[in-house]
Amino acid sequence: MKKMKKIAVFASGNGSNFQAIIDEIEQGRLFAEIVALVTDKPDCFAVERAHNHNVPVFAFDPKKYTSKDEYEKEIAFYLIEKSVSLVVLAGYMRLVGDVLLKAFPNRIINIHPALLPAFAGKNGILQAWQYGVKIFGVTVHYVDAGMDTGKIIAQECFKANGKETLTEIEQKIHTIEHQLYPQVIREIL
Ligand code: GAR
Repeated sequence: MKKMKKIAVFASGNGSNFQAIIDEIEQGRLFAEIVALVTDKPDCFAVERAHNHNVPVFAFDPKKYTSKDEYEKEIAFYLIEKSVSLVVLAGYMRLVGDVLLKAFPNRIINIHPALLPAFAGKNGILQAWQYGVKIFGVTVHYVDAGMDTGKIIAQECFKANGKETLTEIEQKIHTIEHQLYPQVIREIL
């Protein structure tokens, strides 16, 4: 029998990508178990989504630790104990450090709402919009020590007609994200 793979999702905000992964699993289209939601924002909406779907939460306040190494050691220990085979960053707005990168080599992925390497960092959609790009898109990539760097796994794009509002572009991007991320996770697992 095929063994169910265990994944951990990291999020800092709304968690709509986290929700898309949950939905895909609950609808039987992704054969995986989310064994942890890890967050640096204990009050974020992603935590509520985790509670609604019985996903265990590891919440931490970075300010209470003396270094990134220190909190990442706790996270790594927690995830290794739960036999996590893939770490999925979904709006986790923090650089991943050495401890986690070494604990999960080539096993941490991220989604970004722009066609990397353009418009890395925060507010990728707004950055692209303000630059006036005509082709928007989404990137899924392996995580390394940089900000939204690391080898690209998948990209999807669409052409703007020039009449969309920023909100409409954002909606289109999120719709792509919610379909692309579970698909990439399925392929990797
Ligand atoms: C997503 O659009 C994701 O691509 C972006 O944060 C958003 C999280 O939304 N990530 C980055 O910008 C990474 N640099 P969500 O909390 O609703 O999933």
